[in-house]
Formats: sequence, C-alpha cells, structure tokens
Amino acid sequence: MTFERHGLDGAHLRGEWQKMIIVTTNRLVLRHLEPEDLDALFALYRDPEMRRYFPDGTRTLAETKEELEWHQHGHPRHPELGLWATTERSTGAFLGRCGLLPWRIGGVEEVELAYMIRKERWREGFASEAARGIVAHARDALHLKRLICLITPGNDASIGVAEKAGMAFEREHTDELGQCLIYSMAL
Ligand SMILES: CC(C)(COP(=O)(O)OP(=O)(O)OC[C@H]1O[C@@H](n2cnc3c(N)ncnc32)[C@H](O)[C@@H]1OP(=O)(O)O)[C@@H](O)C(=O)NCCC(=O)NCCS
Repeated sequence: MTFERHGLDGAHLRGEWQKMIIVTTNRLVLRHLEPEDLDALFALYRDPEMRRYFPDGTRTLAETKEELEWHQHGHPRHPELGLWATTERSTGAFLGRCGLLPWRIGGVEEVELAYMIRKERWREGFASEAARGIVAHARDALHLKRLICLITPGNDASIGVAEKAGMAFEREHTDELGQCLIYSMAL
C-alpha cells in the first residue's frame, strides 16, 4: 500500500505533522493540545500546589476541557499563539503546557510567555528549555518585538524561568485579578 493511493503523499503527511508541532528543542516537542491530553492537563489544573500562584486557583474537569478546546488549534483570535502541550522528545510523555498568550494591559497589546511543568519533573530545566525555545520562535517565526511574564509575587520558580529566558523585572501591576510582577524582554 502506498500513501499516494489514498491521496496522502509524504509531503502532505509531513505538512500535517509540522502544522501541529510548534517548537522543538533538544529534549522537548511543543505541539497543539489534543483531546487525549485532557487527563494529563487536568492532573495539573486540579492540583492546588500547581495552581498556587494563579489568581483563579484550581480548575474543574469541565473548565480544563473548555480551556483545552480553546487552545486546541492555537488561540482562537491569534492562532499563532496559544498554550501548547510540552512533551518529552525521547518518549512523547506529557510534561506540561507552555506557550504564548495575548493580553491587553493598560490599553497595550502584550504577549505573555507562559509555562507549567508537572511537579514530578521540576528542577530538570524543562521550563527554561521550553521558554528559550518559545522565545526563539516568537522572535524568528512570529517576528514579535517584545514578550512579558506576569508573575504573582513569591513565585520564585517562575521568576527563575523568566530570568533564564532572558527577561528582567520591569514593574509591578495591579488589576482586578490582584498584584503581579511584570518581567519583560525585547526581542
Ligand atoms: C515555574 C515552573 C514551570 C518551573 O519549572 P521547572 O521545569 O522546574 O523550571 P527549571 O528547572 O527550568 O528551573 C529554572 C530556574 O528557576 C528557578 N527555580 C525553579 N524551581 C524553583 C523553586 N522551586 N524555588 C526557587 N527557584 C526555582 C531556579 O533558578 C531554576 O534554575 P536552577 O535549577 O538552575 O537553579 C514550575 O515550578 C511550575 O510548573 N510551577 C507551577 C506553575 C506556575 O507557577 N507557572 C508559572 C506561572 S507565572
């Protein structure tokens, strides 16, 4: 059997695959979220320790499903952005979700670098590696000029990742979700 018999030549398959993969690094593949990721994503979102520094706290299964579907083909309003499944390149294992999120802060359009890694795999450098890969993608493929991180005070792990990605503290910001630190970098 050949792919051509079904109208699926190799180029087509490669195209589909590449469309799904956003960023590849030494140890990671970042790809669009899929319905099969729901249980692994919910294991992160239901965990109070994982969501400690998120103003809206833990998520229910229904809320997690809604968020997964929102990001499944990229962010609906900005398909080049979104949260992406962050998987181990050697095994395909789901390690977390990282990505780029659009915000309007004080009337200014910003793009946030976001990251979350399952806690069994913390301190192996995965968030920093994902962050650096995303920064390169934002600069070279998306031609963005600036990225920020929105960090709840006390989230030292997140500050460490932002700094390793090349960001520096810019200012504090307070809105209806509470106080946060804005880290930023020019690309
Ligand atoms: C933040 C998070 C993604 C970091 O993931 P990680 O893969 O463990 O991060 P890295 O291994 O790349 O660590 C990078 C640096 O961050 C800092 N860091 C990481 N974990 C830390 C911790 N628990 N305490 C203090 N600093 C920490 C260190 O400087 C570290 O570098 P080092 O290991 O060389 O010292 C992870 O802790 C997480 O998922 N937290 C819950 C979700 C979250 O808060 N996301 C950020 C929202 S803004």
